Amino acid sequence: MSLLRVDQLTGGYNGHVVIDGCSMQVDPGEVVVIMGGSGSGKSTFLKHLIGLKPPMSGSVELNSEDLYSGSMNDRYRRLSHIGVAFQMGALVSSLSIFDNVALPLRETTDLPEDVIEVMVRLKLEFVELLDKQDLLPSELSGGMLKRAAVARALARDPKLVFMDEPSAGLDPVVASALDDLILKIKDALGVSVVVVTHELESAFKIASRIVVLDRGFIIFDGSVDAIRASDNPRIQALINRTAEPMAFDAEEHYRRIMGLPEG
Ligand SMILES: Nc1ncnc2c1ncn2[C@@H]1O[C@H](COP(=O)(O)OP(=O)(O)OP(=O)(O)O)[C@@H](O)[C@H]1O
Ligand SMILES: [Mg+2]
Repeated sequence: MSLLRVDQLTGGYNGHVVIDGCSMQVDPGEVVVIMGGSGSGKSTFLKHLIGLKPPMSGSVELNSEDLYSGSMNDRYRRLSHIGVAFQMGALVSSLSIFDNVALPLRETTDLPEDVIEVMVRLKLEFVELLDKQDLLPSELSGGMLKRAAVARALARDPKLVFMDEPSAGLDPVVASALDDLILKIKDALGVSVVVVTHELESAFKIASRIVVLDRGFIIFDGSVDAIRASDNPRIQALINRTAEPMAFDAEEHYRRIMGLPEG
């Protein structure tokens, strides 16, 4: 049974279509990486998947239930099965790391405080931040903040976690550690992860499947091996973009702005 099933989803802003008839699914134990150029609609797609934006048409099912049918309370109940580290590191600045991770449990469950404490400590141990639990977000490094956001996303023991650009703004070593954490979420907890990333190396390392969005359409959905073997020129452009002839020719630029003849 799929954790998430997206069927012919069309969505966007004020009648302007950004996502056009997209279908995909996420099964247990998968890391699904969503890739695509800037402005291709990745973040918009995620907003539809995590309950923030009803689609114009088509459906989103979480655990075989239509996410957007019924009341707002129905929607919140269905969303209790997912975790979101969307704006990574966006923690409440006045609360300690412990209280930030406890927040979803205190706000949406009736669990007694001693149970909450055990659950929070487990998640902090999992992301290797237990020794930082009493610190404020401002007292953590960028990489630690993202791990704290992951701990908070895991607080309610979801089956599925969403992340948008988790490694943005991190140096390569810290970004690589975050990749390892995503794999640990899948392998040790058996939790599926849907992650948007620009980083090709990261995508190839963590993905069970890669979904490529291009101008609102899903133009690829398959394994790392399959995307490497794809002969679709749009896919080729995406995965070879580091080698694309976009290089800036400083000498040529200087000649042009100075009005000098070609050398
Ligand atoms: N709040 C909004 N209101 C209106 N249009 C929006 C809004 N957010 C995004 N868009 C538009 O939707 C399109 C897709 O944007 P989106 O942010 O989903 O792309 P993206 O793939 O996440 O890009 P990036 O890689 O730069 O994060 C763009 O044309 C953008 O201008
Ligand atoms: Mg985005």
